[in-house]
Amino acid sequence: MTDARSRSRVLSGIQPTGELHMGNYFGAVENWVRLMDEFECFYSIVDYHAITAGYNPATFPAAVEGMAVSLLAAGLDPGKCSLFLQSEVPEHTELCWILTSLAPLGQLYRMTQFKDKSGDQGEAINAGLLMYPVLQAADILLYKADRVPVGEDQVQHLELSRTLARRFNNAFGDTFPEPQPLLTEAKRILGLDGQTKMSKSKGNHIGILDDPDTIRTKMGTAFTDPQRLRRTDPGRPWVCNVFTWHKLLSDEATIERVDVECRSAVLGCFEDKMMMADILIERFRPMRERAAELRARPETIREILAAGADAARRVARETMEEVREAMGLWQTKRGPVTA
Ligand code: TYM
Repeated sequence: MTDARSRSRVLSGIQPTGELHMGNYFGAVENWVRLMDEFECFYSIVDYHAITAGYNPATFPAAVEGMAVSLLAAGLDPGKCSLFLQSEVPEHTELCWILTSLAPLGQLYRMTQFKDKSGDQGEAINAGLLMYPVLQAADILLYKADRVPVGEDQVQHLELSRTLARRFNNAFGDTFPEPQPLLTEAKRILGLDGQTKMSKSKGNHIGILDDPDTIRTKMGTAFTDPQRLRRTDPGRPWVCNVFTWHKLLSDEATIERVDVECRSAVLGCFEDKMMMADILIERFRPMRERAAELRARPETIREILAAGADAARRVARETMEEVREAMGLWQTKRGPVTA
């Protein structure tokens, strides 16, 4: 394996949904920020992944830009990491094609996300949705990343990335490290419904850039203990989703107080939800402020993404040279001349 790196590499990606929600942030992006000081980090807004599901070309650029604003507001520092758009580094799709020849179709069909997203469409489903995790493997292997900070829902996709790294190395010689997922304590944040994973498409999310009134309104709809029907009923914090958020966001004394006062019905669900709204409003305040500053300077965002893509392309080209060489693809500039 050719490797002149001084630090381990980290790569992760996120779909351009326009805004980060609490699940993305606590499940993955908080780790992205933490890792920047220690590792060489590449973070990609994966627009080519997003086109596998229905999307609107008219609003897509704004959604991509919105995600860049969210990520920078959440703490990504372009001086310490490379943030780039996947489609601006064509080597991602190039390596993806190579990896499709190594990808076991059975494993692709068994992917939980593929099954969820394909629903009852049968064979009408687009092939991109099936190949989605192969493109994800290309994203990672292109940078020879060892660590991939993600939420729990991406662990199965990373298993495929390791399968593909192994298959490539066995067939063509040691080239790729096997990437490991890095999970946070909040690897699966549930949505406001308290039932399903928080996601923008389900509309059960709180955005990190939501304004205070929106956060209060959304928290008002949050599900708590379904058996606590009256204000005077004792609550069961161990089944309450809002209590899991306290465990993530509140200090020890508050967690203890909420636990005791909920069980003894001193604290009502609505009061607790408004307490959580205030905690979230404060926690995300610096991000809202940074986002407002960034939106006032759209050129800066463009420059950050352009520089990120330059840095990513440098690594990606190097890896592709090595891949072509290992695979015996004839390169006219240095291959055999038979004539
Ligand atoms: P995406 O865009 O759905 O989500 C981005 C990151 O946020 C995490 N996440 C969550 N974590 C905890 N609780 C939740 N409710 C929650 N919702 C989302 C996801 O696990 C993810 O880490 N396929 C990927 C994008 C991708 C990628 C990659 C990731 C493309 N190429 C290469 C890592 C490496 C996706 O759709 O994530």
